[in-house]
Amino acid sequence: MTALARLAFPALRPLLHALDAENAHRLTIAALRLAPTASPPSPPASLAVEALGLKFAHPLGLAAGFDKNGEVPDPMLAQGLSFVELGTVTPRPQKGNARPRLFRLAEDEAVINRMGFNNEGHDALRRRLAARRGRGGIIGVNIGANKDSSDRIADYVQGLEAFADLASYLTVNISSPNTPGLRNLQSRPELEALLGRLNEARAKRASPPLLVKIAPDLAEADLDDMAEVFLAMRVDGVIVSNTTIARPPLRSAHQGETGGLSGRPLFAPSTRMLAELYARLGRRIPLIGVGGIDSPESAFAKIEAGASLLQLYSALVFHGPALITRIVAGLAERLKAEGLADIRAAVGRKASR
Ligand SMILES: Cc1cc2nc3c(=O)[nH]c(=O)nc-3n(C[C@H](O)[C@H](O)[C@H](O)COP(=O)(O)O)c2cc1C
Repeated sequence: MTALARLAFPALRPLLHALDAENAHRLTIAALRLAPTASPPSPPASLAVEALGLKFAHPLGLAAGFDKNGEVPDPMLAQGLSFVELGTVTPRPQKGNARPRLFRLAEDEAVINRMGFNNEGHDALRRRLAARRGRGGIIGVNIGANKDSSDRIADYVQGLEAFADLASYLTVNISSPNTPGLRNLQSRPELEALLGRLNEARAKRASPPLLVKIAPDLAEADLDDMAEVFLAMRVDGVIVSNTTIARPPLRSAHQGETGGLSGRPLFAPSTRMLAELYARLGRRIPLIGVGGIDSPESAFAKIEAGASLLQLYSALVFHGPALITRIVAGLAERLKAEGLADIRAAVGRKASR
């Protein structure tokens, strides 16, 4: 499903998009599982990024939610992504919300989802990751809490313990809008309690870098607090951002659906938040920019707003996997055109408070 997938997507898109969005996604995962994996093309050295103690061949990775259960990390790496984030995974398996819960907004190149952390749980993901141990590739695991958990922080600690030896990095997802109350963990006292307990667990074992993923719907004062807490509690990276509960003007019929909005309309608010956080943190903590990346231009704009690394999801639904190599090649061309030796030189140069 590598070169073939890239070539076939334009022909398959009408078929996939005639299906319910979740069925189309299941079909895509099933096809990727069957596909032989080939080595991705080598990107130019100018795109290499050293961050989180890891060496990325270029900045672009897969955002969480596409492969919640770790079924296709290697086929996705073979599509030319430099890293893949699996999850969100919760300690116990859970079904998530009732279907339909995933909507394509084609006219807006956007998606609304209210999946609600449907996933097979820690054990299933651990088994899959253990089976591919030694294959290399940068694989992050995004951890969350069960909806009915009586101690959500304990669920994150369990996530850290479950994946500390298998993940290249861990992401603490406290920004999904689809688990009631989850985003309260972004408030200063709850964030300090959460990171405090995670740091206690980290002190007891060798752990990979710990990242926090935040919502794009935060107020400036929240960001001030968060930046202070991230620095004080030695967070290794911040992912900006998850989906938004806001509804900028949209055209598609599904615009009124409840859930998190992603894709093109998320680009402006998530990039603004990224720049705001970069203005507070500078390069002390690397930022991963995600939200509405759909072209080399939008990818480069995220970097200029302060992202050291990038992730995408929704644009793949509309443009297929060929978009990945197009963005990577476009970034390299942009560096060349601007006479920049490497991507680091562009990080944050357009972020100002
Ligand atoms: C269907 C769907 C499911 C998602 N599930 C998760 C998830 O489980 N955990 C998470 O942290 N983010 C999840 N996200 C958010 C994405 O990781 C990403 O932050 C967001 O979609 C913005 O990027 P994009 O505009 O490139 O899609 C999901 C997004 C979509 C569209």
